[in-house]
This record gives sequence, structure tokens and C-alpha cells, in this order.
Amino acid sequence: MADIIVAIDGPAGSGKSSVSKAAARRLGFDYLDTGAAYRALAWFVLDRDIAPEDTETVLSSLGAFDYSISIDPSEPVVMVGETDVTDAIREPRVSAAVSAVARVPEVRSFVTSIFRSTMDAAPHDGIVVEGRDITTVVAPDAEARILLTADEEVRMARRSAELTSESAADVGEQLRSRDRADSRVVDFLTAADGVVTVDSTHLDFDQTVDAVLEVIARET
Ligand code: C5P
Repeated sequence: MADIIVAIDGPAGSGKSSVSKAAARRLGFDYLDTGAAYRALAWFVLDRDIAPEDTETVLSSLGAFDYSISIDPSEPVVMVGETDVTDAIREPRVSAAVSAVARVPEVRSFVTSIFRSTMDAAPHDGIVVEGRDITTVVAPDAEARILLTADEEVRMARRSAELTSESAADVGEQLRSRDRADSRVVDFLTAADGVVTVDSTHLDFDQTVDAVLEVIARET
């Protein structure tokens, strides 16, 4: 089991996945992307032609949801059963469906118990876990707890630079509506007690990773 847990929360497009991965690599830690589990469940639900809003049917399908993720920060592979869904879970149709499944409390506790087992089984000295409710629900006792933020326009500009197939306006609207839906369930826009905020609005990628590493060094 990892001795050091680093919990990182933040909104869509805050760069938390790439920053968390880079920080984990620099420290020789494992890396757990929790959003991937919610995305994989949304993919699984769509694959079975279940409407993501049909909570009862979503819940009755959970028993068949065979999910796994590698926690190597250089190669996070996401599997559902025998299918590699690493790329598919990033498709816009999955992003559009994910909040509807993530808002269901039974889904959240099911997925959270998967995260806790994954953290317990992590082989290295530490693990960086990122998502929306890691500092507050999944790992409130983590050695380092960070909220990674950036102004909305900056987050949207960064995200639309990553995607080529969608217009910046579409990306902006998608991010805004996902944040709106998600923040009704979990408050990931304000730092809970003891959580250190890293605001990357005026930082480039390397500076953000350095700022996160500084907090980790100070807190652990
Ligand atoms: O981080 P990412 O954008 O991949 O997360 C996808 C979705 O998973 C979020 O929009 C949110 O609905 C859900 N999520 C969550 N709690 C987490 C991580 C992600 O509800 N800890």
C-alpha cells in the first residue's frame, strides 16, 4: 500500500490529469485518474443502449461492469471487460453522458470503493489520485490535498487547443454545462479546510507541475 497519498481535485480543463501524471512520474508514484471510471461507466451504459438518465437500469447494470485501470502514469490503460476503452472514453458523446451517471449516490459509492481498493493495492511509495471529490470524500486523510484551478477562459482555451474536431464554442459550452451539472453533486470549485489551492491561470504547464510538487514536498 502507498504510504503517501496525494489528492488533487479540480474542474474540467484545469489540466489536473496531465499535471497529476507529470507529478507522479517525477516522484516515481502511481497515478489514479478517477474520472476515467465514471467515463468508463458512461461508455458501458451507452454501449448497452441504456439511457444515462435511467438511474434504475444504470444501477441494475453495475454488477456486470467489469472495470480496470492501470496506475502507471506513463501508460494509463482503461479496460471494460476485454475492451480497451482508453480512447473511447474521451469521445464527446461519453463526456456528454458522464455527469448523469456520476450524480447517482449509489454509483459514487460503488466507484469510490473501487478507488479505495486500487489505492490499497498500489505498489509504489506514493500515489497521486485526481478527480472532483478526492480531497473531500475519496481520500480526505491524504498526506497532500490540492485544488487545482484556473480561470474559466483559460481552461477553455487549453481544452480547445487539445481537440481538433470541435469548435472552441462547442468545447466551451460542453465544459460549462459539465461543470454546472457536476458542481450540483460535488463542490470542486472551493477548497475544503486544509486543502491547498494551486491557481494555474498565469502558469505554464511546467510551472504548474513545479507548484504542485512544491506543495507535495511541503505537506509530506
Ligand atoms: O476528470 P474528468 O473530466 O475525466 O471526469 C469526468 C467526469 O467524471 C466528471 O465530469 C464528473 O462527472 C465525474 N467525476 C466525478 N468525481 C470524480 C471524478 C470525475 O464525479 N472524482
